[in-house]
Formats: sequence, C-alpha cells, structure tokens
Amino acid sequence: MNFLPLIERKREGGRLAPDELRQLVADFTAGRIPDYQMAAFLMAVYFRGLDRAETTALTLAMRDSGETLAFPKDPRPLADKHSTGGVGDKVSLPLAPLLACLGLRVPMISGRGLGITGGTLDKLESIPGFRTALSATDVVEIVQRVGCVICGQTERMVPADKKMYALRDATGTVPSIPLIVASILSKKLAENLRALVLDVKFGTAAFMQTLPRARQLARAMVELGNACGVNTRALLTNMNTPLGCAAGNWLEVRESVACLEGRGPDDLRELVLTCAAHLLVQTRKAPSLPAARKLAQTCLDSGAPRRKWDEMLAAQGADLGEFHRKLALDHTAPVVRELKADRAGWVVRCDARCVGEIVRDLGGGRFTKESAINPDVGVDHLAKPGERVAKGDVLARIHAADSEAASAAHERLRTAFQIAPCRPRPEPLIQGVVTGSLR
Ligand code: URA
Repeated sequence: MNFLPLIERKREGGRLAPDELRQLVADFTAGRIPDYQMAAFLMAVYFRGLDRAETTALTLAMRDSGETLAFPKDPRPLADKHSTGGVGDKVSLPLAPLLACLGLRVPMISGRGLGITGGTLDKLESIPGFRTALSATDVVEIVQRVGCVICGQTERMVPADKKMYALRDATGTVPSIPLIVASILSKKLAENLRALVLDVKFGTAAFMQTLPRARQLARAMVELGNACGVNTRALLTNMNTPLGCAAGNWLEVRESVACLEGRGPDDLRELVLTCAAHLLVQTRKAPSLPAARKLAQTCLDSGAPRRKWDEMLAAQGADLGEFHRKLALDHTAPVVRELKADRAGWVVRCDARCVGEIVRDLGGGRFTKESAINPDVGVDHLAKPGERVAKGDVLARIHAADSEAASAAHERLRTAFQIAPCRPRPEPLIQGVVTGSLR
C-alpha cells in the first residue's frame, strides 16, 4: 500500500474510507509502514480529526489487529469498567469481585501507571505472588470459574494500540479525542463485552482537565461503544481531590480491602456502588438504578465480595497467607511521617495533582515506562475537603523509602492543602452520566 496519499489527504482535511484505515492498521502492525510516516499521519489526525465513521473503522481495525477473548455461552453477562485515570483511583479492585458476586463475568484488562496516575496492575503487583501476565486461555478459565480477573493485556491483544500509543507518546499526539477513543475502545471491544461503564475523570489530576472536555470524550466513547454493540455509559467524576484517603500501590490495596469489608472511605464506596448499579441496569439484571443500587449495596455488605477477592487472588497466584500477614501491618515502608495541620479550620483543598506528583517522586509512580516502582510508598490518612481539623491534627501520613525522601515530601505535601475558617461548598464526586442506546 502506498501510504503517502492517505497522509496527504488527511493533512488537507479529507476523509479516509474504512478499507483504507483497515489496511493502514494492518500494514503498520506488520511493520510495513515506517514509524516516521505513521507519526506524520497521527499528527494530521491530531489537527484534522476523524469523523464518526473513520473513528469506528480505526477502532475496529485496531481491535482486530490481534487476538480477542472468546468466552463460552453463559447466562452471566460480560461486563467491565474503564477509568481514564486519576490519583487514588482504586475502584477496579473492589468492583471486580462485587460484580462477580452480582452474577456478572468480569474480564478486567487493565493498565500500568504513568506519570501521576496510578495503574491497577502496579497496585495488584504489590500483593505477594499475584500474577498480572496471563494468557487468553487463563483469562477465560479464571473468569468462567471465579467470575472475575484483573490482568494486563495479553501479548497478542490489540498490538496496533501498543505500537501506536508508543508513537503518540513520543510525538505529542496523545490528546486527540478520536485517537483516545480508538485506543481505549479497541482494547475493551477485544474483551467481547455486553456492557461497559466508563469513568471519565476531570480536574487537576485528570487527563481531561475540565468538565466540558471530559464530557466531549465521554460522549464520543459512549456513542462508539454503543455503535459497536456494547451497552456503554460514562460517569463524569471529579479528580480535583484524590479518591479515597490513600494513594500509593500497596496503600491502595489496603484501602480497597477496607472498602470490601465495609470500612473504606465514603467516596470510594460511592463510586464502586454507582459503577455496579449502572452495569446491573445495562445488563438488565436490575430494572432501575435505585433497585440496582440496593442490590449492589446489600451484596457488598454481605461480605461475599471480600471472599471473592481472596478467590480471585488465589486464582492469580497470590500467596494468601503472606497477603494477610502484610495486611495486618500498619505500614510496610521504612519511614512514616505525619503532616499536621498548622491551624484549625476546614480543609477546603487537597490537590490531587500535587499528591500524585509527590507519590510518583516518592517512587510510587513512573517517569518513563521503564521506571521501577516502589510498592510500599505513598500517602494515606488524607484529610479531604469538607473535613474540620484542629491545629495539630493529622492531614496525611507519608510512607517513604528513607527519611530524606520523607522530608522532601513533607514540605511539598503541605502545599497540597488549604485550610480556611469557613466550610467549603461540597463538590459532588459524580457530576454527570452520559448514556446512549445500542444501534
Ligand atoms: N488511555 C489509553 O489506553 N489510550 C489513550 O489514548 C489514552 C489513555
């Protein structure tokens, strides 16, 4: 295929036919299109965009660039959730076993953290023995037997996205809505789902900083997901403040277990139950959102999802004895330091971006894809906006590898907080729902 005329057409704002996009993806995946030409094409898309038909064709071609998951017939619908990423976002961990207990099958293919946003796989790998690298056969077997799995993309799934994302990352073409939609949905469509809920975040630590941009991305994904036969909805959620009270890989696993045991923070529980309720309605396992919410709440409070979590861990190779021993410890990092309020008042800000940067710099996140992660560092006991504090109360605990890192984090963490004499107006966590209909 001569790729140059396609680059030139897109550069001039023209349209590409579905067959042309299919061929382009196949040739690029097979190494028949050099990176410099693909980079030029991606930049043309960044400036000129793709229309609905082009985005659909690109997404389906990317999905079909590798293996997809094939599940046996089963009355339990296949469902999943995807988040655009944030600080302290651990929703997937309690949600997967909850959904499995509610009668859904959950093949949750997740990613790693980069920059300030945490990655589900990095969190799970802080559990002794837990394996995130599974073959497609393992994924299907565990989903059929346990009801849920959380793992990485298999080597052979959606290879076009792996190659394209690496190029986008190196050429400043990540923030393009059609390219984001194709990248995210090609991976989710490879799971052969019946229903998908997207958690599209906006705020200081989100990919999309403003609510209108997040809504634009959510609408594009919901429309395309439904057009491809997956009942898709999106929640628009606030990422100006970290989710929950902990950020850092192992600390977030602990908080997820607390959520499964009914002890977790309210905002985390709220988002877990809301995602579950939408998926129950989308899969017709509940007639309405209030009924679904009740089902999800009763199930979470029954303790069954906590037991299912251990079952999923064991199926993915975790050493449950070691896991429970680690869970019983107050902390696993060598140094723990408290940040205390220097005045009394109301917490009006706990900035997610600042907290995310501190956790990354403590060693809990990555600067590049190759960076090693320290699973034990991070922050917990975070005071959240709307909380009243007295002078000397703990605003956060810092978990660090050594005292120098703890001191540096301590200085910076103070700037994440603002304490004022008046109670702030509450900022709702969930600020919109985007629904669509199957076509
Ligand atoms: N996450 C993805 O998987 N792809 C994107 O393009 C952006 C975020």
